[in-house]
Amino acid sequence: MGKMTGKVAVVTGAAMGNGFGIAKVLAKHGAKLALLDISEKVFEAAEELKQNGHEAMAVVTDIANMAQVKTAIEEVIETYGQIDTLVNNAGVVRLANFLDMEDSVRDFQFNINIVGTWNVTKAALPHMVQRSQGRIVNLSSVTGTMVADEGETAYATTKAAVLGFTKSLAREVAQHSITVNAVLPGYIHTPMAEQIAQESSPDNPQSVIDGIAGGVPLGRLGKIEEVGELVAFLASNESSYITGTQIVIDGGSTLPETVSVGV
Ligand SMILES: NC(=O)c1ccc[n+]([C@@H]2O[C@H](COP(=O)([O-])OP(=O)(O)OC[C@H]3O[C@@H](n4cnc5c(N)ncnc54)[C@H](O)[C@@H]3O)[C@@H](O)[C@H]2O)c1
Repeated sequence: MGKMTGKVAVVTGAAMGNGFGIAKVLAKHGAKLALLDISEKVFEAAEELKQNGHEAMAVVTDIANMAQVKTAIEEVIETYGQIDTLVNNAGVVRLANFLDMEDSVRDFQFNINIVGTWNVTKAALPHMVQRSQGRIVNLSSVTGTMVADEGETAYATTKAAVLGFTKSLAREVAQHSITVNAVLPGYIHTPMAEQIAQESSPDNPQSVIDGIAGGVPLGRLGKIEEVGELVAFLASNESSYITGTQIVIDGGSTLPETVSVGV
């Protein structure tokens, strides 16, 4: 018996990166998985889980589109009959300095990271309220809540918004024994981290990755499976008295009080 045995988990943005890591770990702990992603690669992700002996389904869904989200959640209920855990993981980042940022670039990030999280929660929550149980885990970030770099005004705004959403929703649904928590990753080695490295240094993205690793006390970027294990804890029965809070997973990157010289 795994800590997620008998539970159904919906993970958004599960085709790759953190979402796929979370899906793999939840499946390892016994959950049945519903993978939602805008990319068709989500079918390969579900296939990989099935080949490893897990139960998984995939639905191509743009979380910014409420009609698609409703259809996807209905499909999950038709297939599995319940939703125990929702992991709002799908997110995007586009770097641009504030004065140069087109409103369309801002809206792209707001619509996926904030409105998308809102949409999937709106569609899935009634199925948790009905059974007076559930776990919602939202992927925020250390960006916007604790730290920020240039070019991140839109992204940082969305990640802080996800934390505010987490706290307020946790207050509302506690009466139904549903918990809502946020995970705040630092640098995790995903396609998103590679994209940031590529945008920051098109000629030598690896130097950016190495530079980031050098500034992390644990000396490396995080692994998607490490994020998965934290989410699995927050999704399990063992986390029953934790709600409305945030857990940082960053290898200590937000820790240094003094910037090292010469690095
Ligand atoms: N990688 C990091 O260092 C890091 C750090 C802090 C927070 N996060 C957060 O973790 C989450 C996942 O990030 P990642 O690094 O794995 O990103 P990623 O770009 O590697 O993967 C994101 C996934 O989301 C999917 N997606 C994008 N738009 C979507 C939409 N409209 N509807 C459905 N799916 C969509 C993509 O297809 C992709 O599969 C994000 O919320 C991000 O903000 C990541």
